[in-house]
Amino acid sequence: MDQQHIRNFSIIAHIDHGKSTLADRIIELTGALSEREMAPQVLDSMDLERERGITIKAQAVQLFYRRDGETYELNLIDTPGHVDFTYEVSRALQACEGALLVVDAAQGVEAQTLANLYLALEHDLTVIPVINKIDLPSADPERVMEELIEIGLDGTDAVLVSAKQGIGIQAVLDRVVDLVPPPPGEGTAPLRALIFDSRFDSYKGVLVYVRVVDGQLKVGDRIRFMATGKEFEVTEIGVFRPHPTPVGALATGEVGFFAAQIKTVQDTRVGDTVTLAERPAPEALPGYRPAQPMVFSGLYPVDSADYVRLREALEKLQLNDAALTFEPETSAALGFGFRAGFLGLLHMEVIQERLEREYDLTLITTAPNVVYQVTLVNGTTLRVDNPALIPPAGDILRIEEPVVEAHIITPAGYIGAVMELAQERRGTYLDLTYLDSVRAMLSYRLPLGEIMFDFFDQLKSRTRGYASLDYQWAGMQEADLVRMDVMINGEVVDALSTVVHRDRAYHRGRALVEKLKDLIPRQLFEVPIQAAIGGRVIARETVKAMRKDVLAKCYGGDITRKRKLLEKQKEGKRRMKSVGSVEIPQEAFMAILRVD
Ligand code: GTP
Repeated sequence: MDQQHIRNFSIIAHIDHGKSTLADRIIELTGALSEREMAPQVLDSMDLERERGITIKAQAVQLFYRRDGETYELNLIDTPGHVDFTYEVSRALQACEGALLVVDAAQGVEAQTLANLYLALEHDLTVIPVINKIDLPSADPERVMEELIEIGLDGTDAVLVSAKQGIGIQAVLDRVVDLVPPPPGEGTAPLRALIFDSRFDSYKGVLVYVRVVDGQLKVGDRIRFMATGKEFEVTEIGVFRPHPTPVGALATGEVGFFAAQIKTVQDTRVGDTVTLAERPAPEALPGYRPAQPMVFSGLYPVDSADYVRLREALEKLQLNDAALTFEPETSAALGFGFRAGFLGLLHMEVIQERLEREYDLTLITTAPNVVYQVTLVNGTTLRVDNPALIPPAGDILRIEEPVVEAHIITPAGYIGAVMELAQERRGTYLDLTYLDSVRAMLSYRLPLGEIMFDFFDQLKSRTRGYASLDYQWAGMQEADLVRMDVMINGEVVDALSTVVHRDRAYHRGRALVEKLKDLIPRQLFEVPIQAAIGGRVIARETVKAMRKDVLAKCYGGDITRKRKLLEKQKEGKRRMKSVGSVEIPQEAFMAILRVD
């Protein structure tokens, strides 16, 4: 396709404002799929995404749109909306010149609307505001226009849409053709293509998703990855329409994927530049900022024989998810496993769920924690991503923890409630601005570790679900933190250690042992549970000894009932780990998150 007729664009939005539904309508309108094939949210291909109704992986679809007798090639890149996946949004935006910013006509501008807008502006994209769900009785497009103006967009120029009813879709595409510039780039220059994603296919090897910036890529070309220097011969090139469709070549400005019998995922680095071995480009394209894992958790197979399978599964997942990191770790309590790094809590949950579902693994996962920077009395500095590895207090000069700048958008009536929550969580007030007469944005500096203690749930419940939250990394900050250990039956269980603020240690320790007492099943003997700081016990509870075994109740010959009970017991056991002589269930490892 002639470069002047190509438009590469993305849809960005706050979660649930209707990105995927709008994408569906656009695909429908351009006739890429027959009606029969049109299942809701066709771009969300993974089962998990469909079940949770969220978009996890960015996807690129090629569409053709006719306007005034001319045909345009539109490459639509769908992006995730959740705060955890900012990294993927950023990757997708790098392959675009324009973005549709979708805002719900009833909800208005939310925290991720702003965060995504800033990302788009950072990438110099043309932003087209779209006000969606105008069919809702509570829709108030005029108010949303005001809010758009408040955040620096021409709100009066927004396209009014109902993705659900198919209203305004053509106007959206006309706007894309008129306003989004065609891709720049030199058709005759040596090939430079940016890798924005890759995934493993068991038949074709690694599939590499690229945006061709200069030159062109053809089947049979010998290509070179500029970062690694590795060379391969291109065996297949394709685009998504939205089904994968083979094409002979990708021209300047186009988006698609190629296969080249690449066996190992390490060879294709997201952000790397692909060029031709025979005629290499002198300089690589600027890459992406590498993703920073913010949240860490231990992953341990319940059955230690699954260790190798777990490693293989993590390697496979990492191919599709550059932001996932992991390294082997050994726990005295849980045995051999991995410490994995994630972008945030949702990212962590998604990965854990995929490991269990797609790779059929049963895991014990430890409570998530942030990374700490520890300066020792002897002057050395350590980065510690596992609370159990925080050195003894006597050796420590200071501990720093990650902090974020959080923006919370809330109806004005809840400002007091939000401030109270932020203060409880050691927040530092930064700013308060009004988006319009009824909604405000509060900014706080908050320890990331505190956000993990169900901050989001608390925020939602204290604002009746109306507040939205977004945050960005804001560096490290010193705090008076201590390691709190948990002893069960007299033994320290390393996987239960946490880092807490000294002022809250007593309260959290008390609440934690109470919670653990409820979660740890009775054993044949009495089990003391203690929380301790630096060897000093600050709280204690006891799990009483068991009186009868489960079958004692069903004397007599009801064999099916017995079997049922035994099965139930087995089911419960699947997610237990014997630590010393005590069986500890999965929930106990997460208890610390629910103690406030
Ligand atoms: P994520 O992918 O999870 O970030 O969400 P999304 O922004 O893609 O939203 P999605 O398209 O899944 O839509 C969210 C909900 O809003 C769904 O229940 C849609 O049916 C509904 N919805 C989308 N567009 C409209 C619309 O124009 N009108 C109405 N009434 N509902 C809509």
